[in-house]
Amino acid sequence: MEVRLNIFLMNMTQKNKKNIWITGGGTGIGRELAKLFSDRNYNVIVSGRRLSKLNEIKNYNKQNIFAIKLDVSDSKACKKASSVILKKFGFLDIIILNAAAYSPGSLTKLNTNEIKKIIETNVLGPINCFAPILEIMKRKKRGHLIFVSSPAGFRGLPGAGIYGVTKSALTFLAETLKLEYDHFKIKVQVIHPGFIKTPMTDKNTFAMPFIISAQKAANIIIKQIFSERFEIYFPRKLIIPMKIMKILPTSIYFFLMKKFVKRMLNG
Ligand SMILES: NC(=O)c1ccc[n+]([C@@H]2O[C@H](COP(=O)([O-])OP(=O)(O)OC[C@H]3O[C@@H](n4cnc5c(N)ncnc54)[C@H](OP(=O)(O)O)[C@@H]3O)[C@@H](O)[C@H]2O)c1
Repeated sequence: MEVRLNIFLMNMTQKNKKNIWITGGGTGIGRELAKLFSDRNYNVIVSGRRLSKLNEIKNYNKQNIFAIKLDVSDSKACKKASSVILKKFGFLDIIILNAAAYSPGSLTKLNTNEIKKIIETNVLGPINCFAPILEIMKRKKRGHLIFVSSPAGFRGLPGAGIYGVTKSALTFLAETLKLEYDHFKIKVQVIHPGFIKTPMTDKNTFAMPFIISAQKAANIIIKQIFSERFEIYFPRKLIIPMKIMKILPTSIYFFLMKKFVKRMLNG
């Protein structure tokens, strides 16, 4: 009887708190965000394919962090995970669509299997995760979707590979949802981080200007997601020049990029 009462009280306290789901929450930016939200007493659901990584972050705050093993490219599994989350927590106040696969490099050597996997993870993955929850958000007229995209998708970028293509699509998706869901009172935001030191960028062999730690990035993000701005970007000294490149006429952009690539190739 006492055990049942404790479980009931535990469920009640969980239900009275705000709930956030962070995909790819076992490492990097997602992991640091999970820590910050658990410190703020949110119920934090972290998902990813490696349970070992998720359990590590769960140990940071066992009371507030919950782990779900999930491959975001598996739409059936995402539907099931969403229903498990909703059953346990009642509602999701925020979803951070952060999980992504990264495989930079030239598109001169196309590997279609790899391309398929990256598109399924980076574009279909976020859709698989938010789609089952969006209907409930619409009905309740509240909710908050945050897409972790990348400035690598701002314009055609040599070496950004299919990763840049998917991030371009993700930003497009976020902008479209923002326009279509505003009147349902669902907040949509997109994040364009510069270089952040995480397992993802540890693979890079090139110089990464203005790189910052995942902890610092998470601190910047958490401050800005409660603001009314749609786009969150940092560090400004890297992203503002990239934004200027974005509005240049195509012919000037191509001219500058070709010069830049030539300089890079010549060391
Ligand atoms: N680091 C940067 O400089 C940078 C810059 C711009 C944007 N971003 C974006 O920031 C986000 C977080 O990246 P990060 O830098 O923190 O790298 P990260 O530590 O490698 O995080 C990526 C996460 O995604 C998960 N993931 C990958 N494929 C998955 C799949 N199929 N299903 C479920 N989870 C999957 C990984 O966990 P499992 O392998 O365990 O599944 C991992 O936890 C990404 O969207 C990335 O594109 C990063």
